[in-house]
Amino acid sequence: MSDSLCLPDRRQFMQYMGAAALGTVVSPGIGNAALARFQPGPAGGPGASSTSLKDVASQKGLLFGSATNATHLQEDKDYANLIAQQCAIITPANELKMRYLRPNPNAFKFDVGDWMLNWAQSHGMKMRGHALVYGEDAALPPWFNGYVNRNNAKDVMVKHISTVVRHYAGKLHSWDVVNEALQGADLRDTPWMKFVGPDYLEIAYRTAGEADPNATLVYNENNIEFAAQDNKRNGTLKILNGLLSKKAPIHALGIQSHLRWEMGGFEPGKMRKFLNQVSDLGLKIFITELDCHERDNDVKIDDRDRTVAQYYADYLGTVLENKNATVVQTWNLTDRYTWLSQQAPRRDGQAVRPLPFDQSLSPKPTFDAMVKAFEHAPSR
Ligand code: G3I
Repeated sequence: MSDSLCLPDRRQFMQYMGAAALGTVVSPGIGNAALARFQPGPAGGPGASSTSLKDVASQKGLLFGSATNATHLQEDKDYANLIAQQCAIITPANELKMRYLRPNPNAFKFDVGDWMLNWAQSHGMKMRGHALVYGEDAALPPWFNGYVNRNNAKDVMVKHISTVVRHYAGKLHSWDVVNEALQGADLRDTPWMKFVGPDYLEIAYRTAGEADPNATLVYNENNIEFAAQDNKRNGTLKILNGLLSKKAPIHALGIQSHLRWEMGGFEPGKMRKFLNQVSDLGLKIFITELDCHERDNDVKIDDRDRTVAQYYADYLGTVLENKNATVVQTWNLTDRYTWLSQQAPRRDGQAVRPLPFDQSLSPKPTFDAMVKAFEHAPSR
């Protein structure tokens, strides 16, 4: 991920919590009232909740879903049932990245993505595409470095986008066309930027739009919700305005929303202003990768869960005020499968608990916070 700021520590977390208590960082929003009623979810494992997030969300015109992986859906029946019960939309967390679709420069391998689409459709769910142009090493195929250069990068990118988008034309909810293009306010030094140049965004969106004129095309970015990230919000607006002024097809902003106290929390006023600027451009707003880092917060699980739930409540309470926000998606649904356990583990060795369902697939206070946030959201 870009913008990997300094690692969290307990001092930063406590500062955040102090500010939150004073109401200077996060708005109490719906959070306090809702949390007063929070009880840990019922024990009993898979399917223990009779409430489904997708149903509560849909009552307000919101689409709720989660990222997921094919292997987990195939090998863990309880987990697959939970996803089917709770979600109206899924996103392959990795399976549609270039690394997974392109065994070599001349070949495309759609079998896993196709299986996921078929699984989603057979359970009455939609699927999002993530992500066509992503400069992170882990998203690029092993052959990329050494094969792609200044002379062929544009052709490689265009061929990739047009083949993949055509393959799924008319079948997906939306596509993350470019993912994480920014470092602060400036375009990040990805291979695409280096070899194609700053026009790569416009070329990417035009190519996707030509391959499927009806596709909903998204720009997806991380860390734009944090109070201190004015630069990144400005950079995002510049990208969106740039695409629109050139009449390149762009329809929504994806705000990843990997919440992190140590990034300084978010400020509802700044967030509202930014979201209004985005919706004033006529764009939809999708929360695409919601979860919550919790490397160094409290030690007791009940306290940790309530704190994470509060953050979700405050955040969703603010974002969902904007009626152009139509999709809420978590980056997986259960602590059983979260990228954070590998990539941002707790320093005290306990398992991370960033998501609405715990490792035994029981709902947590975060689940209740999401239900309340959806119930309190205005209809759209
Ligand atoms: O599948 C292999 C496995 O065979 C091998 O033994 C293991 C050893 O490390 O690696 C496994 O692959 C890992 C893969 O996730 C599946 O778990 C890769 O190393 C690892 O790099 C990859 O990480 C993914 C990361 O993106 C990089 O593409 C995460 O699962 C995925 O959740 C994460 O998602 C990103 C979004 O695309 C963009 N926004 C941020 C988000 C979180 O980082």
